[in-house]
Amino acid sequence: MNEIFVIIAKAIWFILPAYFANAAPVIGGGGPPMDGGKTLSDGYRVFGDGKTIRGFLFGWLVGSLVGFVQIFIWSEPEIQSIIQVSAWSWKVPVLLSLGALLGDVIASFLKRRSGVQRGAPIPVVDQLDFIVGALLMASLVWVPEWRVILTLFILTPVLHIALNRVAFEIGVKSEPY
Ligand code: CTP
Ligand code: MG
Repeated sequence: MNEIFVIIAKAIWFILPAYFANAAPVIGGGGPPMDGGKTLSDGYRVFGDGKTIRGFLFGWLVGSLVGFVQIFIWSEPEIQSIIQVSAWSWKVPVLLSLGALLGDVIASFLKRRSGVQRGAPIPVVDQLDFIVGALLMASLVWVPEWRVILTLFILTPVLHIALNRVAFEIGVKSEPY
């Protein structure tokens, strides 16, 4: 099988929990903001209304569940021959999802410190914050090969833009980015 295809399949399979963790709050988020509405001395919110407790927990749960389904599916020999990755501990998707959400929250913290309004698009940062968070957190138990990491940094912005466009078109997101 084409080697590039295998790397791309491995990369998507690996990062799937993080993708779900990052996307789920758009649908399941809302309610009280994580920062409790607090503003820092610079006059800007700590994180802003775009980061909610419910969104965080929902994203973590959905991402982790996706990973558990993957672990279940992986026991099929056909999947193993396509994806060619070693078996996962349940800790991998739990940490990937947690890291994705933390990366997103940290990015919001930095955006507010720079005076960037909630929801304003910051290309590259918006698309890679959760990947960096997911990789760092998951690295406690799992580090993918470098070609998978490289693929993620190239593929994610492309997929992110495409998926946000779809979310906008079907009406679950208010901006097309
Ligand atoms: N969301 C949430 N809780 C989170 C993350 C996201 O409820 N921890 C929801 C919010 O409704 C948010 C939407 O998902 O508006 C999209 O997430 P994101 O683009 O990360 O937030 P923004 O509104 O763009 O805010 P920011 O500028 O801080 O990124
Ligand atoms: Mg945003």
